[in-house]
Amino acid sequence: AQIQKGAYKHFMLKEILEQPEALRNTMRGRIRLGGASPPEIRFGGLEPLMERLASARRLVFCACGTSWHAALVGEYLIEQLAGVNVEVEYASEFRYRNPILARTDGCEDIVVVISQSGETADTLAAAQFARKKGILAIGICNVVGSSIARETDAGIYLHAGPEIGVASTKAFTAQITCLAMLALKLGRYRGAISEEQFEEHVTALLSLPAKMAEIFAQSDKIYEMSRVYRYAHNFLYLGRGYNFPVALEGALKLKEISYIHAEGYAAAEMKHGPIALIDRFMPVVVIAPTSDATYEKLRSNIQEVLARGGSVIAITESDNDDLDAECEYVIKIPKVADFLSPILAVVPLQLLSYHIADMRGCNVDQPRNLAKSVTVE
Ligand code: G6P
Repeated sequence: AQIQKGAYKHFMLKEILEQPEALRNTMRGRIRLGGASPPEIRFGGLEPLMERLASARRLVFCACGTSWHAALVGEYLIEQLAGVNVEVEYASEFRYRNPILARTDGCEDIVVVISQSGETADTLAAAQFARKKGILAIGICNVVGSSIARETDAGIYLHAGPEIGVASTKAFTAQITCLAMLALKLGRYRGAISEEQFEEHVTALLSLPAKMAEIFAQSDKIYEMSRVYRYAHNFLYLGRGYNFPVALEGALKLKEISYIHAEGYAAAEMKHGPIALIDRFMPVVVIAPTSDATYEKLRSNIQEVLARGGSVIAITESDNDDLDAECEYVIKIPKVADFLSPILAVVPLQLLSYHIADMRGCNVDQPRNLAKSVTVE
């Protein structure tokens, strides 16, 4: 059946607002909590492979674009929560550089390809390359029956529903949700997290859709902010830890659909270059949740920007008033454990880029020069 925009002006807006529902669908049937038996996360296709995944020497994540950003969040998640070594590669670089891949039993490398469409040529080729070398390849895709889904040994579907807008939104948050579930499952399997911690984390995961819906209540503020910044020529996005990839993703969204040059940076790296660019024409978006272990350092980064006349848009939790007085705009997201903050923090950034692109008269759903799935290498 043809997918309709319905009352929405663009598919992208529809898909942004659909995210709470998409996350529910991603988690549906996979999480067991409450009742007589211990809490559990299950992925049909991966169950027989858990021992291999949990004892792998490395998981090598290969992806492109927004899926690559989700993979970066996945690296933090799986290393922190499960203690399994993860490496993230652009699919296009991975297979051209003769990667060192181990095949020894109990000490193997496993390739995990992540792709919304399941058709991106470089990502598909990375999976084929791995399998040709006898390496287990796992796919995390949204599109059921896609090439990657067919050509990997096993996988996880996002179940986020069709994504039509070229700029990926709900697939990104669904990818991170899947990776968080995988991290928790692996962490529990390996004993890296206790049953109590597991239960607490799973409860937090299940609370995400409702928390995300709360962000939409600030739509007016995000719209107003977009109006103020719509003519900017450059944007800088800063984040640390789990939210460094969110800074990259925020910048990518803005570039893709509004054609404004934007860079995402690890906040502490600002002093090694981008700080030279800061003046009153440079809006800086800082993702600064207090749950971040380096929150105080992020605050000093904000001070450094302000001292140079830059204007700061901060993303932080609803109970934090620290930044209200100093920043131009503060968008508040509900409080959540640090490892889940990317899923909420990216939402205002998606909306900011959406509104700016729309106000600039850009073709939001089909930006120039871009394709939904890139089937050339
Ligand atoms: C294209 C799309 C992006 C997407 C990337 C990877 O560049 O415009 O939105 O993130 O491909 O796509 P995939 O389907 O593999 O996730």
